Amino acid sequence: MNRIYLDNNASTALDPKVLEAMMPYLTAHHGNALSVHSYGRDVRKAVEDARDHVAALIGSSSREILFTSGGTEANNLAIRGVVKAHEGGRRKIITSLVEHSSVSGPLADLAASGYEVVPLPVDGSGRIDAESLKAALDESTLMVAIMLANNETGAIQPVKQLAGLAHEAGALVHTDAVQAAAKIPFTVDDLGADLLTLGGHKFYGPHGIGALYVRKGTSIEGVTFGASHEGGLRPGTHNTPGIVGIGEAARLAAERGEEDRRHMAKVTGHLEERLLREIPASKVNGPPLRDRLPNTLNLCIAEAEAESLLLGLDVAGIAVSAGSACHSGGIEPSGVLLAMGISRSDALSSLRISLSRCTTADEADRFAETLGRLASNLRADHESPGS
Ligand SMILES: Cc1ncc(COP(=O)(O)O)c(C=O)c1O
Repeated sequence: MNRIYLDNNASTALDPKVLEAMMPYLTAHHGNALSVHSYGRDVRKAVEDARDHVAALIGSSSREILFTSGGTEANNLAIRGVVKAHEGGRRKIITSLVEHSSVSGPLADLAASGYEVVPLPVDGSGRIDAESLKAALDESTLMVAIMLANNETGAIQPVKQLAGLAHEAGALVHTDAVQAAAKIPFTVDDLGADLLTLGGHKFYGPHGIGALYVRKGTSIEGVTFGASHEGGLRPGTHNTPGIVGIGEAARLAAERGEEDRRHMAKVTGHLEERLLREIPASKVNGPPLRDRLPNTLNLCIAEAEAESLLLGLDVAGIAVSAGSACHSGGIEPSGVLLAMGISRSDALSSLRISLSRCTTADEADRFAETLGRLASNLRADHESPGS
């Protein structure tokens, strides 16, 4: 059975070129980047080359990039590090109701210790309205933390506009770009971001590596303590293979991103059109494709429970997700969908389908046929007497 993987917002496959770039750093080059000898120098050079590639992808200077263990750590460091550097100052943080738990989690912790955390609502397509930010901003606002693109719906937030408003009020701007990287083009200057998070395994790099962009001049303090790696802000021996991997993934994304985005948008558009046409009472959760990630389709199939569809698809060798992958395992409806005003039962009947740059139209068609069959069987079961 040829399996089909449509859960790329959870994690992408490692690009073979990324693996090739990483291999020497899993074998011959095992030095520590802080060591003065040639082993250390070799590794240091690889780390700095990777930093250059990541910086180039987002239009920053290499000195503004810190490597972390992933998106989760980068989001935590951005939030906690900025708060720590501003202790005794502003105490309000504005965010949204649809953030990933690695943003909403540290913010909930700060709220519990007395910070004012204001989560902005989203509209029916999952987007934040600038007016709501305007109303929440004041001279006590330290930071606005709003994601660039949502992991469940792919909705792209108007970060540039929001950042402009935040800066007028003297607040810093952090954006979680874990899902956006390589899927939409952006630079930190275009967005007006002061801090921005990336995660390697969402764009064909390895697991366990991420990066935090910190604009030069931004006050931030470390939240873990140890040696002087990453300027002391993120101490601990580098994950050199991972860093080389995210560097190569960023280099590839810069090189082929436009072509990949065009391909994904075409296949996603074709799939969406086909599913909406062939599956009765199906609808898209989120904005139209032009306002969301080109690889993401969140589909509600009314009266067909996502958990059952997920299992049926898995038996057929097809991987998608229901709700956010990071929270899978339960049957709680997605908080993101609920925040969009979607009913509990529709949220429980929604699937997240996320393509990669390698997904073919043929795979999309095979998926559409299987999903259509499973949905109609499930509904027939519900309608049959005694079921
Ligand atoms: C939007 C978003 N932010 C942050 C993360 C966490 O990244 P990581 O898995 O690298 O810790 C994820 C992972 O799914 C995500 O989708």
